[in-house]
Amino acid sequence: MDNETAAGHLTRKTVLRAALAAGMAAPAVLMGVPALARTLTDAEAAPALTPECDDGDDPTPEQTEGPYFKPNSPLRSSLLEAGTTGVRLTVSGYVFGLACRPIPGVLLDFWQADVNGAYDNTGFRFRGHQFTDATGAFELTTIVPGLYPGRTRHLHVKLQAPGRPVLTTQLYFPGEPRNNTDTIFDPRLLMTVRDAGTAKEAAFDFVLNVPQDPGPTPTPTPTPTGVPGGTWAAGTAYRAGDAVTYGGRGYACLQAHTAQAGWEPPNVPALWRAG
Ligand SMILES: [Fe+2]
Repeated sequence: MDNETAAGHLTRKTVLRAALAAGMAAPAVLMGVPALARTLTDAEAAPALTPECDDGDDPTPEQTEGPYFKPNSPLRSSLLEAGTTGVRLTVSGYVFGLACRPIPGVLLDFWQADVNGAYDNTGFRFRGHQFTDATGAFELTTIVPGLYPGRTRHLHVKLQAPGRPVLTTQLYFPGEPRNNTDTIFDPRLLMTVRDAGTAKEAAFDFVLNVPQDPGPTPTPTPTPTGVPGGTWAAGTAYRAGDAVTYGGRGYACLQAHTAQAGWEPPNVPALWRAG
């Protein structure tokens, strides 16, 4: 019987939920504009969804460590060993800070039950730690953990950004019958999971309580792209007969006026004649 009881200390904040579309381009993350696909199909996840990773997003909820954590797990992103049985599972995602910027070098220490629901408490089977890469990404290769009494299906993980406190939490699988009865289960910690042949591909993004500079505010583009330009300039007082260029063409002013955006020569034939 598991001692992972009492979720009383759990935070109930909204969390950035699921997950990156598989194959999402890393450059989007580097630009600080993660184009996350939060397409959880399971209705149980719907209420707490955060539609976007934006400034002020709440951190991933904490969960109980349970009785089976062991320090000093091996450095490895694959928990598969010779003879490992079970449905292959990859879990991938990113670790973000509070401003939704990815964090490189975050320690993730995973541990889980084997296909029969048993933890290895003497060795380190199904235990391993890794670090997020330069884009804040991680990927775990493992198996779908087995069930054991008292709990729904889950993975355990501890995360620690450099110089920051440890977050201990768990990850869950959509559509598990025991999700409805496990008092520790938190739908904000559901992964997105999809079938990939005989294997499963899961995704989850973490948000750590790490203050971040949100970065430069995007500057609104004052004019559409592809403005051709020229000597014509808004704000200029033109007189009849003045010559300008715009878009590679020359124009002659037909009547005196002070130019305004939107009055570019091609747009106002009453003011400008192409020459
Ligand atoms: Fe557990």
